[in-house]
Amino acid sequence: MTEVLIRPMRDADVPAAEQISDEAFFELDRRTLPRDWPEPERRTPALSASWISRTRGFLEHDPGGCWVAEDGSGVVGFATSFVREQVWCLATYAVRPGLQGQGVGARLLEAADAYGAHCATGMLSASVDPRAIRRYWRAGFAFHPQMLLRGAVDRARLPVVDGVRESRPGDVPMMDALARRLRGGGHGPDHAALAEMARPLVAETATGHGFAYTDGARLAVLAATDDATARALLWACLAGAGRARTTWCRT
Ligand SMILES: CC(C)(COP(=O)(O)OP(=O)(O)OC[C@H]1O[C@@H](n2cnc3c(N)ncnc32)[C@H](O)[C@@H]1OP(=O)(O)O)[C@@H](O)C(=O)NCCC(=O)NCCS
Repeated sequence: MTEVLIRPMRDADVPAAEQISDEAFFELDRRTLPRDWPEPERRTPALSASWISRTRGFLEHDPGGCWVAEDGSGVVGFATSFVREQVWCLATYAVRPGLQGQGVGARLLEAADAYGAHCATGMLSASVDPRAIRRYWRAGFAFHPQMLLRGAVDRARLPVVDGVRESRPGDVPMMDALARRLRGGGHGPDHAALAEMARPLVAETATGHGFAYTDGARLAVLAATDDATARALLWACLAGAGRARTTWCRT
């Protein structure tokens, strides 16, 4: 491997980073998805365009959190992260397959992590790649379980849910106050980007309040003051799921 430079991401790097992300996650899926699951597929042009637009948003708001690794061949890895008040979040992170496991990822994560050095907390959603898990563990993150649900929603089992509605622009302060309380920072500029990809829902139940963003196939964000409200929101998201045979839902 030629010498690798870690430097801030520029706008012109975003398409190359998208290609690396597509290759790295496709290769990871091929390595790790259960055999009885559908064959992994490369990203569609529409999903690539949405990845590029989302990453340009991170670069616009948090240029200090976005880094690339470059060697003589060009960009070979990247990490994007953002700070919202007191929380640092890793958005996404990948190294080109074939160059993984050689220390490039460690340097990228260190650069992105330094951007949130002043934050009280840091968060990320880990892939199942053992290299990623080892990196996060070595960086000092604590691990919490995630759940991936896959399948078609059995609509006959959907309960009637009270207190969940489409969100309105005036709901943003409530959403941000809740996110601040739960994770240390509101979503701020991310509401607009999330609303482009997903439908915002708000819950005002007998026990509390909360919100979720869902695109009908995936749950992007769910936050609630209490378990009953979180359950109501999840049921509402499942009720809004398409009728496609597979639906994914990650928490
Ligand atoms: C996760 C990723 C970005 C890390 O980049 P990288 O360049 O591979 O990372 P590094 O080489 O710096 O670190 C990998 C670590 O895992 C270890 N490792 C390598 N293969 C391993 C394996 N099969 N099992 C466990 N650990 C392994 C390496 O020894 C190294 O640990 P060390 O520094 O203590 O020796 C990269 O592997 C990748 O793109 N994976 C696919 C996409 C992905 O999962 N991204 C993370 C999204 S949350």
